[in-house]
Amino acid sequence: MIRVKNIRKSFGALEVLKGIDIEVKKGEVVSIVGTSGAGKTTLLQIFGTLDVASFGTLEIADQTVSGLSRKALADFRNKHIGFVFQFHRLLPEFTALENVMMPAWIAGTNDEDVKSRGIQLLNDLGLADRATHLPSELSGGEQQRVAVARALMNNPEVLLADEPSGNLDSENAALLHDLFFDLRDRLGLTIVIVTHNEDLAARADRTLRMSDGVFV
Ligand SMILES: Nc1ncnc2c1ncn2[C@@H]1O[C@H](COP(=O)(O)OP(=O)(O)OP(=O)(O)O)[C@@H](O)[C@H]1O
Ligand SMILES: [Mg+2]
Repeated sequence: MIRVKNIRKSFGALEVLKGIDIEVKKGEVVSIVGTSGAGKTTLLQIFGTLDVASFGTLEIADQTVSGLSRKALADFRNKHIGFVFQFHRLLPEFTALENVMMPAWIAGTNDEDVKSRGIQLLNDLGLADRATHLPSELSGGEQQRVAVARALMNNPEVLLADEPSGNLDSENAALLHDLFFDLRDRLGLTIVIVTHNEDLAARADRTLRMSDGVFV
């Protein structure tokens, strides 16, 4: 589902990724751990086509995405990849349901199906009666689950999460982690999670340890 070969990334003279190779199979949950500054977020941003590697090739969902134009990349990302970040990044002036529907609007679909899918996703994540709440009217755990629902709106094959539970207490973190594995089992999602949470890292099918821009 994800295949990267010899990914390198430099910011000016600073080489942050020094030759990363990895293949992630469909339905696999991979965790990436490592010290601060190792390059984990940089790599995840490249997986997600939010940033471009200085060198190397990236294939996602059987498509070679290295070399696509900005516009083509944005379309590809919107359709195939869902993101969950450490801070939910919900839009404060929109309700939970509107935030969940946002990726569909961005993709240019705005019909009744979008709304019913949004409601269904909130239902699935135990948030049925929070649909009309603004992000500020939700708990941290609820905000993060809304962010997951938003990530799923366009039915992506790949879910990328960067310290998704970094900001949650242990109970809400455990709920969120259960959710990831449930999504893999139900939807066959391929999931890559960057985390400092040992429990979550250990539950993954595979844990990759990063140090100074390489896997060790
Ligand atoms: N846009 C940028 N310009 C310059 N340097 C950057 C940029 N983004 C990241 N870096 C540097 O690249 C290195 C890796 O950063 P990255 O965010 O990938 O680390 P990380 O492994 O995610 O760390 P953490 O666990 O603290 O989130 C750091 O030294 C950082 O300062
Ligand atoms: Mg990081």
